[in-house]
Amino acid sequence: MDNIRVAISGTGRMGHQLAETIAATEGLEPVGFLDGLAAPGEFAGLPLHNEPAAFFGQHQADVVIDFSNAAWTPTLASAAIAAGCRPVIGTTGLDAAFLSWLEQECRDRNLGAVVAANFAIGAVLMMHFARQAARFFDSAEIIELHHDQKVDSPSGTARVTAELMRAAREGDFAHNVSDIETLPGARGAETGGIAVHSVRLPGLVAHQEVIFGGLGQTLTIRHDSTGRDSFMPGVIAAVRAVMQTNRLTVGLDRLFGL
Ligand SMILES: NC(=O)c1ccc[n+]([C@@H]2O[C@H](COP(=O)([O-])OP(=O)(O)OC[C@H]3O[C@@H](n4cnc5c(N)ncnc54)[C@H](O)[C@@H]3O)[C@@H](O)[C@H]2O)c1
Repeated sequence: MDNIRVAISGTGRMGHQLAETIAATEGLEPVGFLDGLAAPGEFAGLPLHNEPAAFFGQHQADVVIDFSNAAWTPTLASAAIAAGCRPVIGTTGLDAAFLSWLEQECRDRNLGAVVAANFAIGAVLMMHFARQAARFFDSAEIIELHHDQKVDSPSGTARVTAELMRAAREGDFAHNVSDIETLPGARGAETGGIAVHSVRLPGLVAHQEVIFGGLGQTLTIRHDSTGRDSFMPGVIAAVRAVMQTNRLTVGLDRLFGL
């Protein structure tokens, strides 16, 4: 079987990790990098472009992996899809309008795409277990903890987890509001009756705790990514899977049959 030709969008922390991983993975062949904020040149010994249409015109890529910024992902995805290249997107903070546009484009062009807020398999299981527990508890809160360079809050994983939990019980959780909040925001943000708290500290990578509360008991489901390598097996699985699909898949849980 031919190698899958892979472009990488984003040359930040995830881009560095991906450059190393893709080059070392059998059956995958890195062809180049895209970064909207970088000067054109070379990255990890391969061409680096900041203009997606020109990149896809010059380099044939089967799949583009995007870990960049939500302001850039739609431009990148549009150029990739026009060139018949399948996007595997990990960038967070994407809006619903972009996702429905992508779904329609994939349908119209018979092209696969994957968007996942979290590519760490343990995190996907954490979300799956939280969804299962959601039916049995009326109260739940999410604490997500990330490194201090993360641009968006709350994390995409926290938002998706909350949506899955709410959908599983077909209604909002009971949201506890303090009578007196002496520091505004102390109870966190709120979605679907779930309080969501974002911690940003140097030394952290990506962590999340979902705490359910019931009569005389709590249930805590916690996942920790202690390094960016935790995301790599999920990304590689998505790159291989996206070659076999002709629709948009949102979430790794679908790829893993959860
Ligand atoms: N889905 C997952 O499993 C997962 C895991 C880790 C990170 N992420 C997400 O991936 C993204 C990148 O994470 P990172 O840690 O590598 O970040 P980073 O800040 O280290 O790198 C961001 C990259 O995006 C580029 N960029 C930033 N703003 C841009 C803009 N306006 N236009 C064009 N390019 C722009 C930067 O030049 C850089 O190459 C973030 O959205 C993060 O939340 C997702």
